[in-house]
Amino acid sequence: SGVERLGGMIAEARTIVPFTGAGISTECGIPDFRSPGGIWTRNRPIPFDEFVASQEARDESWRRRFAMEEVFAAAKPGRGHRALASLYRAGKVPAVITQNIDNLHQASGFAPEHVIELHGNTTYARCIGCGQAYQLDWVKRRFDDDGAAPNCTTCDEPVKTATISFGQMMPDEEMQRATALSQACDLFIAIGSSLVVWPAAGFPMMARRAGARLVIINREPTDQDDIADLVIHHDIGETLGPFVGN
Ligand code: OAD
Ligand code: ZN
Repeated sequence: SGVERLGGMIAEARTIVPFTGAGISTECGIPDFRSPGGIWTRNRPIPFDEFVASQEARDESWRRRFAMEEVFAAAKPGRGHRALASLYRAGKVPAVITQNIDNLHQASGFAPEHVIELHGNTTYARCIGCGQAYQLDWVKRRFDDDGAAPNCTTCDEPVKTATISFGQMMPDEEMQRATALSQACDLFIAIGSSLVVWPAAGFPMMARRAGARLVIINREPTDQDDIADLVIHHDIGETLGPFVGN
């Protein structure tokens, strides 16, 4: 079976790099983007230039974020997160590359410096001008008091969740670290991503080209299934559950 073949590949590998997308967190109650009921089936993305240009767009962006607060606050690591954390503790996984913004890899036991967040993190906020960090509670209070999304107390530029929006620059250090990890592993496992958003979707292919074995675990087919050594079109929690250890 797929799980047995995956087990064999994990046993043989020296350095495993997991690459995760929203599908690993759906069993934690967080919707993905493109499945039925996903975020982008309900809301149009707000591009970065629109967020910068329009107070209305910033207010809408923050209203959406506050509406999700209970979902993010209640979410606990799922079987996929826990399996990866077990392999990390066993010394097989140096770090995880993620497109997710939900902080669940950290919550499962990865040290923060071993979670490469390509699209940032939604559990805090930053000024888009000077980069100052803000707690969401502060933003919420200001939003409630003023009836509008706040600007930075230092430089007066807009405050945004610490995530990467469409049209926003990718984080340089994270891109470099993800590149190095992808090229240095002997097993790369893409988990729960539609692999349609670039440049993130380039990493599975990059790892394969550099000589790693490539495994894709995703309910739906992806454009990179044909270059993978193993494709598992099955539920992530059920597939990775057997690898949850200590
Ligand atoms: P998507 O919603 O595009 O893809 C998630 C994939 O996970 C889908 O193909 C689902 O079929 C699959 N899936 C969901 N739950 C699953 C489960 N329990 N078991 C197996 N498969 C499951 O999410 P991402 O690929 O992460 O970026 O999206 C990439 C980027 O697009 C995000 O990081 C975000 C978004 O726009 C930005 O906003 C910049
Ligand atoms: Zn600022």
